[in-house]
Amino acid sequence: MICGGKFEIMDKLLIHGGKPLEGEVCVSGCKNSAVAVIPAALLADSPSVIENLPYIDDVLVLRDILKAMGAKVELSDNGSMYIDPSGLNAFTTPMEMARRMRASYYLLSVLLARFGKAEVAFPGGCDIGVRPIDQHIKGLEALGAKIIIEHGFIKAYTSGLKGAEIYLDVVSVGATINIMLAASMADGVTEIVNAAKEPHVVDTANFLNAMGANIKGAGTDVIKIRGVSSLKGCQHSIVPDQIEAGTFMIAAAATKGNVIIKNLIPVHLESVSAKLIEMGVEVSAGDDFIRVKSSARPKPTTIKTLPYPGFPTDLQQPMSALLSIADGTSIITENIWESRYKHIEEIKRMGAKIKIEDRVAIIDGVEKLSGAPVIATDLRAGAALVIAGLMAEGVTEISNVKYIDRGYENIDKKLMALGADIRRISV
Ligand code: EPZ
Repeated sequence: MICGGKFEIMDKLLIHGGKPLEGEVCVSGCKNSAVAVIPAALLADSPSVIENLPYIDDVLVLRDILKAMGAKVELSDNGSMYIDPSGLNAFTTPMEMARRMRASYYLLSVLLARFGKAEVAFPGGCDIGVRPIDQHIKGLEALGAKIIIEHGFIKAYTSGLKGAEIYLDVVSVGATINIMLAASMADGVTEIVNAAKEPHVVDTANFLNAMGANIKGAGTDVIKIRGVSSLKGCQHSIVPDQIEAGTFMIAAAATKGNVIIKNLIPVHLESVSAKLIEMGVEVSAGDDFIRVKSSARPKPTTIKTLPYPGFPTDLQQPMSALLSIADGTSIITENIWESRYKHIEEIKRMGAKIKIEDRVAIIDGVEKLSGAPVIATDLRAGAALVIAGLMAEGVTEISNVKYIDRGYENIDKKLMALGADIRRISV
């Protein structure tokens, strides 16, 4: 595709379905932690080294944004990033870069805390529904920031951030992390009530505390942050990606395979394991791995997406692919995002029988899906189509693989190593 004079390679994935996945796969670092921890490193007055980063587009975009703003950033092939923030000389992000990812809003709190002002392009990201940031704004204003939105930028100014008690009207991962970032260097104590508890919230708090912040309660509903005057760079390894891990668990079940998913924290996947067991799948866990084994058609179940530790919305789409061949009718209720069913039309082209009523998907399981040309509309929709292709009869061609590459490191190579007949072709 030629756009803006730049030739964009539009990769496709070609999958010949029906092969059971067998063997071991290693989970990469968590995308949704990486996109918070990398900006957080800018709060320090000395260099940090962040390890176990996934080699995905969002990490590359953040590297480019930080470099464009004067920081020294080196990303090595083994997934470790050296960040020296001392050269940071801009409080505004390059529009064309910041729009390429949802989580560019974390730069707002970091630049505000460093410079007392920040101008960040309105975030981009997946098309899964309206992505409001009212809770981010509520939190930063409570800390003493003045926020205006103009010309596609969110602009924030402050004469000094002060601790505050902030109640989140909705459980928001982004708002929780954004407020935590700003409050870590505010004057006084901040309390975030009704905070998100996702593993990446905890991982970001752990990184901030390793830099010298004083954050207690991350992973619970109430996070208390006592602001400090400065933070020191440190070394940190990103937590394993529980969504990538869950995607491989579901793929193993979908292909009647036998897979050990390694380098994960089993408790982060409790809701997924519980649902797969309900569906008749064998799931067993060790200290840092989960084995998923299945030899029968899955039983139907009901899924309601909820904030952590509920069933994760990011695995709703992959799970809907598996449920499309269950032996009965399943019901999914998507409680987090209002239009996270764009993949359903594509799976129906493969023979699925699914009806959408507002936030509810009614899935009448069919014996088998058949391969077809389909289009990924967003990151986890793409993952759902990969799972559908892995279990379908015949060949599935998935376009818009760039969406999948945003959140999954080398998904084709990892699946090929598990015995999938999958090929990436660049068009
Ligand atoms: C994060 O998005 C993740 N992205 C999303 O993952 C994930 O789906 C989501 O959390 C929920 O777990 C990153 O971490 C980069 P939220 P975020 O703020 O922070 C409402 C993926 O596939 N809300 O927790 O943007 C919002 O409408 C991506 O990896 C407000 O009303 O999500 C939603 O209904 C997709 N006002 C709910 O809260 C706000 O100011 C949860 O949103 C913010 C959010």
